[in-house]
Amino acid sequence: MLDDGFGDVLIRPFTACDMTRVLELVAQIRSQDDLMQSAHAQFSAELGRPHEGQVRLVATFKGTVVGTMGAGPGPWPSSQTLWADWLVVDADYRQRGIATLLYAQIEAHALRQGKAYLCLDIGNIDRERAAYLFHQRNGFQVVGQIPDYWGTSEHLHIMAKYLRAGA
Ligand SMILES: CC(C)(COP(=O)(O)OP(=O)(O)OC[C@H]1O[C@@H](n2cnc3c(N)ncnc32)[C@H](O)[C@@H]1OP(=O)(O)O)[C@@H](O)C(=O)NCCC(=O)NCCS
Repeated sequence: MLDDGFGDVLIRPFTACDMTRVLELVAQIRSQDDLMQSAHAQFSAELGRPHEGQVRLVATFKGTVVGTMGAGPGPWPSSQTLWADWLVVDADYRQRGIATLLYAQIEAHALRQGKAYLCLDIGNIDRERAAYLFHQRNGFQVVGQIPDYWGTSEHLHIMAKYLRAGA
């Protein structure tokens, strides 16, 4: 739900002009790794060679980018599945429904692509409580886990949502 004044949040496709600001948002994800470098490489590759199933969005408030996320074929491409990635809302704008707005567009995109599932690696569910609770609230379940996959206490947790329930 949007608080007063947040009705002006707009969702639009990511462009090259958004790169610097979106990388600032990526820097808000706590990690031992240089996420900005891997995000920059991925976003640049997407801009240079768009893939039909790929989408990357930004949320803007009064012209400023305050959130982002994307989805694409992911590590194991499947006709049934898109993988969501790089979901971040600026710390000053959280719990105002912005991630919910971004996800609504991503889910609509996935359904238009004929997909049945959205998946993501949520990382460490003990540390990233907001992300875990957000996804749980939005119908995702943990379907796989590999402890220390990314490094010590950097677990891989795959969450998945079936998109066609009730369709
Ligand atoms: C996870 C994140 C994207 C959520 O963004 P957001 O815009 O604050 O989420 P929303 O406002 O749409 O939240 C919707 C619901 O999710 C749940 N939720 C969101 N943040 C929560 C928190 N900190 N604690 C508990 N529940 C939370 C609530 O149920 C919330 O509904 P409510 O506000 O009516 O209670 C944001 O906290 C974030 O950017 N975190 C850092 C980066 C990150 O961890 N990204 C995810 C990587 S997988």
